[in-house]
Amino acid sequence: MRGSLLVDNIGELVTNDIGGEGGPLGIRRHAAVLVEDGQVAWVGPARDAPAADRRIDAEGGAVLPGFVDSHAHLVFAGDRAAEFAARMAGEPYTGGGIRTTVGATRAASDDELRDTVRRLRAEAMRQGSTTIEIKSGYGLTVADEARSLRIAAEFSEDTTFLGAHVVPAEYADRPDDYVGMVCGPMLAAAAPYARWIDVFCERGAFDVDHARAILACGQAVGLGVRVHANQLGPGPGVRLGVELGAASVDHCTHLTDADIDALASHRVDCMCPDGVHTTTVATLLPGAEFSTRSPYPDARRLLDAGVTVALATDCNPGSSYTSSMPFCIALAVREMRMTPAEAVWAATAGGAAALRRTDVGRLARGARADLMILDAPSHLHLAYRPGVPLIRQVLHNGVPQCRP
Ligand code: NIG
Ligand code: FE
Repeated sequence: MRGSLLVDNIGELVTNDIGGEGGPLGIRRHAAVLVEDGQVAWVGPARDAPAADRRIDAEGGAVLPGFVDSHAHLVFAGDRAAEFAARMAGEPYTGGGIRTTVGATRAASDDELRDTVRRLRAEAMRQGSTTIEIKSGYGLTVADEARSLRIAAEFSEDTTFLGAHVVPAEYADRPDDYVGMVCGPMLAAAAPYARWIDVFCERGAFDVDHARAILACGQAVGLGVRVHANQLGPGPGVRLGVELGAASVDHCTHLTDADIDALASHRVDCMCPDGVHTTTVATLLPGAEFSTRSPYPDARRLLDAGVTVALATDCNPGSSYTSSMPFCIALAVREMRMTPAEAVWAATAGGAAALRRTDVGRLARGARADLMILDAPSHLHLAYRPGVPLIRQVLHNGVPQCRP
């Protein structure tokens, strides 16, 4: 959209900008935001706001950076509602249902898959997610992984090759052959459409040696590393991620002190509350614990050790069929000992850190003009009013999404 746009009459502006005052969220009052050419051109006191071609009146609502959902599996077909119902009746979650979705995804047409991604991308946007990472991982053949990523890349800059989600049934008795295929022809076909590589490093999925080999192959062709780790039980996944300099280790539900020490011991400078974050971010996915009736990770333990924490939805048809970052924030505050400010930071700037991006997750001059306006006066309401559709307007690249 051409021309300038001023957002004013803001109740509370969350900037995540560490330069100024306003605590870790960089909160400013009586502020306005000027948007030009899809970027934030100016942030300052409303009384000093420059003239603009158009204006959006926030009507006293809070304005926040758009959410950065750094972990989602949107390319799939089929429905696993019955599996969810069985869990709520007492069945455990094992990850075995992944193969059900693989069968449905292989049978789907490109257009069916694309329509699902489009629908979920729009659903997430309405709930404030202006950035969303999208993984493959339900194709598990060379052609199906490549097309999953090709479709994902139509909707996201952050696409992740997860050919090592599980060993598919046809390779069940020869996992070494599957790993060889993932590192060879599948990676070659997937890499042109992917920024990241991920492995489900867990008992029943890939052991640490296979995971290390696959992630190293991805690194060798220039992909960044992320790991599904320590979701269903303790294990070596988190420490493998740290060893490889992963941008993020995700789930982190079952952590030992050694895992937390490993995460805390590697730091880099950043635009974050204390000017430094851990090289490897711990991304927590409370939608998965909710939907699998599992114990939640203890975010407080990570935060107190100085580990950078992100929150994401893990949106997928099996373990967490939600695209709602506000829901994840509410769970993190109620169940994971995060303050509302920590949870909002983790869902915005934390997600950006997990994707190694500095253009999103904050509202300062030069950042992408991705923001949301709440029907509420402060960020606290995201946890205080769970389940309520508080997001009135979303700007993505400076373009209003919900209202003309
Ligand atoms: O992140 N843990 C592995 N993969 C997904 C679940 C996928 C599924 O159950 O379909 C997750 O929770
Ligand atoms: Fe996941």
